[in-house]
Amino acid sequence: MHPMLNIAVRAARSAGNVIARSFEQSDKIEVEAKGLNDLVTNVDKQAEQIIIDTILKSYPEHSIVSEERGVIAGSNADYQWIIDPLDGTTNFIKGIPHFAVSIALKYKGKLDQAVIYDPIRGELFTASRGKGAQLNNSRIRVSNMKEINGSVLATGFPFKQKASADAYLNMFKDLFTKTADMRRAGSAALDLAYVAAGRVDGFFELGLKPWDTAAGELLVIEAGGLVTDFNGGTNHAKSGNTVAANARVLKQLLTDIRPHLTPSMINR
Ligand code: IPD
Ligand code: CA
Ligand code: CA
Repeated sequence: MHPMLNIAVRAARSAGNVIARSFEQSDKIEVEAKGLNDLVTNVDKQAEQIIIDTILKSYPEHSIVSEERGVIAGSNADYQWIIDPLDGTTNFIKGIPHFAVSIALKYKGKLDQAVIYDPIRGELFTASRGKGAQLNNSRIRVSNMKEINGSVLATGFPFKQKASADAYLNMFKDLFTKTADMRRAGSAALDLAYVAAGRVDGFFELGLKPWDTAAGELLVIEAGGLVTDFNGGTNHAKSGNTVAANARVLKQLLTDIRPHLTPSMINR
């Protein structure tokens, strides 16, 4: 295993253990509102601190972008870690056991290492650039579904961006009528890990942040899939509008998404 992936795994497991323990003691969870429908807990922050400490102990010069702490500029900007300490905070708060730790490393602007850890199921998804993707050390691949008809897609609702509700629901309707079914499980990181593992045939969501998708993107690519924005381009890390699937399903997803793009989605 790449030494930096090894550190990422150690950080994800330590943070995940704290999250899983806190989940059992829900009376101690302190919830705070960051924005509209956007919550954070003391556990998000505790998990984040563990991850940052673990990384900086081994690589004190590296840079970090983390959801709750923001940017920590290191002396070496070639290495940038992108961290979501707890993806699926709403599930965590509601007692729904579906959330994950997501850690990615970019080297010179390219995704290089990725870990998504589900501490409830003990599922560790890992990827290293050019080396494939694994679930608990076994190789995973995206599904080989050839079309949307009969597929199961994962998605997320734009709950922080309700002005996009109409556009989103129109995309959803066009896709849903073709699919076998849809899942809205509540963790974009796990949605992408599940695309990588072939558990779902595709994923789309708008308005995501880099820490929601960085690790999941490398997992999907290393599992043989593609990740794009809603125009089929590479602007998803900026716009947050993200589609993931194998090449054939992705093409069809974009065809059904395209008619419903608003001007701001086309320009981004
Ligand atoms: C959220 C989850 C959710 C997605 C949201 C994200 P958080 O992350 O990934 O599935 O729909 O857009 O913000 O806030 O729980 O880390
Ligand atoms: Ca997140
Ligand atoms: Ca989070």
